[in-house]
Amino acid sequence: DAQQLGQLPPMGWNSWNKFHCDINEELIRETADAMVSSGLKAAGYQYVNIDDCWAEQNRTADGKLEANHTRFPSGIKALADYVHERGLKLGIYTSAGTLTCQKTMPGGLDHEDVDAQTFADWGVDYLKYDNCNNQSRPAIERYTKMGEAIKKTGRPILYALCEWGQNQPWLWGKDAGAQLWRTTSDISDSWSSMTGILDKQVPLAGYSGPGGWNDPDMLEVGNGKMTTTEYQAHFALWALMNAPLLAGNDLRSMSDTTKKILENKDIVALDQDWAGKQGYKLRDDGDTEVWTKPMSDGSAAVVLFNRGLTAAPMSATTTELGLGKARDYRVRDLWTGTETETTGTLRASVPSHGAAVFRVWPAKFPNAAPLSTLTVQAPDF
Ligand code: GLA
Repeated sequence: DAQQLGQLPPMGWNSWNKFHCDINEELIRETADAMVSSGLKAAGYQYVNIDDCWAEQNRTADGKLEANHTRFPSGIKALADYVHERGLKLGIYTSAGTLTCQKTMPGGLDHEDVDAQTFADWGVDYLKYDNCNNQSRPAIERYTKMGEAIKKTGRPILYALCEWGQNQPWLWGKDAGAQLWRTTSDISDSWSSMTGILDKQVPLAGYSGPGGWNDPDMLEVGNGKMTTTEYQAHFALWALMNAPLLAGNDLRSMSDTTKKILENKDIVALDQDWAGKQGYKLRDDGDTEVWTKPMSDGSAAVVLFNRGLTAAPMSATTTELGLGKARDYRVRDLWTGTETETTGTLRASVPSHGAAVFRVWPAKFPNAAPLSTLTVQAPDF
């Protein structure tokens, strides 16, 4: 129910990174179908989110938003029904300003109640609330108003602040009623953008957890301008940070390589661990970095990240990972699925711009259960 919204970071898809304003109802329906047929739904992806440019330029005579007549002729309610019939959820977008960022439709400022109620009436499950054209009015006030308006509808609508981290939303986002908040300006499909955003997350690790998550922006995996190795690093680090996993590619024409990254169950499980402790940078050796995340079952996730231009031999010890003393440790390579044992040091040759990803369990008992049975089960929220 509404109170339990956002107990885990949301997973799904959003239209912006790939399609920008070039969206219509066929795309949304086909994306919902592809989410099911590609296996993404089975891997945990759920939200189908429409971003900017979905509405008519003007409100109706009674002050409501309505879907663009040409591109969404059946309306949002019909689209929500379509998405719900497939066991998925529908997300929508507007801005805490007079217009949205693309200025093709009205924003929600001073129309919070009517817009939240319209979304609820349509069966919308997720609202991304942007920050453009905000008339320099105070952010906390603008975002709290929409949070209250959503609450008043009585519908559990996940509320995602898109305030770009300008006013430290990690400090007040929860009080404004939100379950996640963007921490930076927009990602783009490049190594420098992805790593630049990553660097800005480092001081924020303590501000994220069940009910309110840092949002380092949507995924670019599969959009074509980074290498497969770079997309693997992007995905692993976003999962380690408990980011919302919102695919931003064309799900209808995904390559098997892209699918394998997005559907890697062991890496998705890092993101979706019920304890919700955000991973953090443990060690910075210049071009190489060790990141880790404590998991709810007492294991540790480890990302050995190499920003350098050549492959690097990297290692991390179970002591620095805070795993405590054990007879030995079981290590699973989350890209290959290979399991090994170590008495204390993990090693990998990490490719340039790559991320080796491991999960390490202390094997405390001589007859510990085989690793394959040690999957982390989130409580039934
Ligand atoms: C802003 C947001 C983006 C996207 C665009 C749409 O830039 O930060 O994520 O929603 O607006 O115009």
